[in-house]
Amino acid sequence: MFDDLHPVVSTYDNFDSVLVPEGHVSRSRNDTYYVTEDRVLRCHTSAHQLSLLKQGEKKFLVAGDVYRRDSIDATHFPVFHQMEGVRVFAKSELSSTELTPQDFVSQELKIMLEGLAKHLFGEVELRWVDAYFPFTDPSYELEIFFNGEWLEVLGCGVMQKQILNEASLVDEEAWAFGLGLERLAMVLFDIPDIRLFWTNDERFSKQFKAGMFRSGGHNMQKFKSYSKYPPCYKDVSFWLPDGSKFTENNLCEIVRSTAGNLVEEVKLIDEFHNPKTNQVSNCYRITYRSMDRSLTDEEINTLQDDVRETLVTSLGVTLR
Ligand code: PHE
Repeated sequence: MFDDLHPVVSTYDNFDSVLVPEGHVSRSRNDTYYVTEDRVLRCHTSAHQLSLLKQGEKKFLVAGDVYRRDSIDATHFPVFHQMEGVRVFAKSELSSTELTPQDFVSQELKIMLEGLAKHLFGEVELRWVDAYFPFTDPSYELEIFFNGEWLEVLGCGVMQKQILNEASLVDEEAWAFGLGLERLAMVLFDIPDIRLFWTNDERFSKQFKAGMFRSGGHNMQKFKSYSKYPPCYKDVSFWLPDGSKFTENNLCEIVRSTAGNLVEEVKLIDEFHNPKTNQVSNCYRITYRSMDRSLTDEEINTLQDDVRETLVTSLGVTLR
């Protein structure tokens, strides 16, 4: 188990080593935090797969903080934690079955992860969804039914041969998975908003103790939600600049850097195209709400004014 690998990694480790093609969206500055031209805050723990395989590790877990520029809502936060698992199968293990190596490894992977889900959650509704990752084939996502929606909690698959070959494992096969730890905890304890993991409020932290997890999750006490403070909604409408560099992630980054954890959601509620001027207008609704206290109108108005101003100066939009 590795849990102290540094979160700043090379673009080689984060992308190339796991076969993320040139031009893939995840490489863009819109999705990933670049520290320098060739170093990033890792966007997944898969960044460590190849180097650990090269070190001769055959069965390992990596837990760590990962970073993504993303939208803002109850299940997304720019930093969260993943746990990666990799298991290499030797040639001898693969030859003891009628199945093709890929099918065998795939089956082993699903059995293991379903066992994990059952251990953690007891009876819970789950489903496998076919997915795409550049580093696995076939690839799947596991979703769990939570708060009225299907929530993706992990991605996984059979590791691409090319990665194993790069680590001089030519006769072997492997599976890999990457699990979102906050989402898992949200489902397990009924935690309604991912920002709660960052609160200093004792009404949250006092409900959890190190080690309480051990006996198997589903018997544990759910989080007792303390009363929520009222939300405050602010809409902002603007025309996108010509040849727009505007992206929702950039907007969210601005809102996040202005309002910090006081923002709960940023949602596009209206979009229209004016055929005469060929301009596009967006209207976003920003939900402000603190997890710990009530906010004053004054405070929110100041935040909203700052957001509006920064939208103009940084993204070049025209407010309406
Ligand atoms: N790295 C993937 C993600 O962050 C998850 C994953 C890990 C998928 C390992 C397949 C194998 O979404």
